[in-house]
Amino acid sequence: MMNFNYYTPTKVIFGKNEENNVGKFVSDFGGKKVLIHYGGGSAVRSGLIDKVKKSLEESGIEYVELGGVKPNPRLSLIYEGIKLSKENGVDFILAVGGGSVIDSAKGIGYGISNPEIKDVWDLYLGKEKANTCAPIGVVLTIAAAGSEMSGGSVVTNEDGQVKRSYNTDYSRPKFAIMNPEITYTLPEYQISSGSVDIMMHILERYFTPEPNLEVTDEISEGILRTMIKNSRLSLENPKNYDARAEIMWCGSLAHNGLTGCGGIGDWASHQLEHELSGVYDVAHGAGLAAVWGSWARYVYKENPNKFARLGEKVFGIEKIENVDNMAIKTIEAMENFFRSIKMPISIKELLDREITNEEVLILAEKCSNNGQRTIGSFKKLDKEDMKNIYLMAR
Ligand code: NZQ
Ligand code: ZN
Repeated sequence: MMNFNYYTPTKVIFGKNEENNVGKFVSDFGGKKVLIHYGGGSAVRSGLIDKVKKSLEESGIEYVELGGVKPNPRLSLIYEGIKLSKENGVDFILAVGGGSVIDSAKGIGYGISNPEIKDVWDLYLGKEKANTCAPIGVVLTIAAAGSEMSGGSVVTNEDGQVKRSYNTDYSRPKFAIMNPEITYTLPEYQISSGSVDIMMHILERYFTPEPNLEVTDEISEGILRTMIKNSRLSLENPKNYDARAEIMWCGSLAHNGLTGCGGIGDWASHQLEHELSGVYDVAHGAGLAAVWGSWARYVYKENPNKFARLGEKVFGIEKIENVDNMAIKTIEAMENFFRSIKMPISIKELLDREITNEEVLILAEKCSNNGQRTIGSFKKLDKEDMKNIYLMAR
């Protein structure tokens, strides 16, 4: 087990109707002037935004609002949020939505609290470092990205269609309100895409070069089994409260750091995917499903035993002597699961067309920062490797 820090400061408020208490929690964390930040309309249509406003008013908290966050949140709206917040003296940002809204809120949070940083995008480019972030609260509407407890923020710059992430503990939300009933209105595709993302947050940490992890691996395998069971149940019956609750909690545990304790994450599939959602504006989880199998086939020989263990523990695959065969069976089992929840397992299935050689090269070029970076820790991948995986996945 490697040395690690485990820091999850987010207060979780889980269960039915808790969104009606949001004003109290904002108050507890010192918020006096709030920016309510939300997406393209689902939270307005469901009446959630009205409930949030009512609760803030009851607690005597003033607010301004900014909706319109798109999936794969755009930098331009973050600039708009920073301007609006500064003009109105906002001291607390309330994200009502999923990963895209929360990540946009984090971008705004950095922008209003680090006056020495002229352009918040420089954080995402790695040119600047934040010293703080304005406090963020979350009312979660979709179980997927895990941003409600993570320090990550992933943003797309429309200028060049580049999607980049920035991570610090400063942006970990102060609280996250999670009412599984709020997720009942999710379209099937988002349930499935979110489920893949949650599982991928486990797998990215599970495939680590660190050989000796016991409790961390057991926790990971338990969350994966729980996800497989309950994503199916949620698709069968969208109003299955218990299934929704299990998934929602899995989403946070998968990405708050717990399943990475003692190891070092791989994250190559995420980097490969971020180029897909940056360029083609697809759902992040669906993009992950489209590349994971190809990544896995490309790298499994680094440690086929770990793939075999996953197969045995999560899919109940019977142990066989040929560990390579077992690893391949595991990869197939994961892909079959993705298929069973109507997720794509190739870029062709993701986009409904085959991408050209030129597009493959552009993706590899972007993902490697023009050949300037490698990705992955289970197996380090350079630009040529990225190209090969995109070719396998296309
Ligand atoms: O915009 P609205 O109308 O709200 O619709 C959203 C959106 O179209 C809809 N939706 C959300 N809650 C709903 C709902 N529709 C009906 N009922 C509800 N209750 O779902 C769609 C997707 O929303 P989005 O926020 O984009 O989903 P998700 O949570 O999957 O977030 C994806 C983003 O998070 C990033 C991804 O790259 C992507 O940009 N990630 C962030 C991470 C982090 N900050 O730690 C880690 C992840 O790996 C990921 O990269
Ligand atoms: Zn993800």
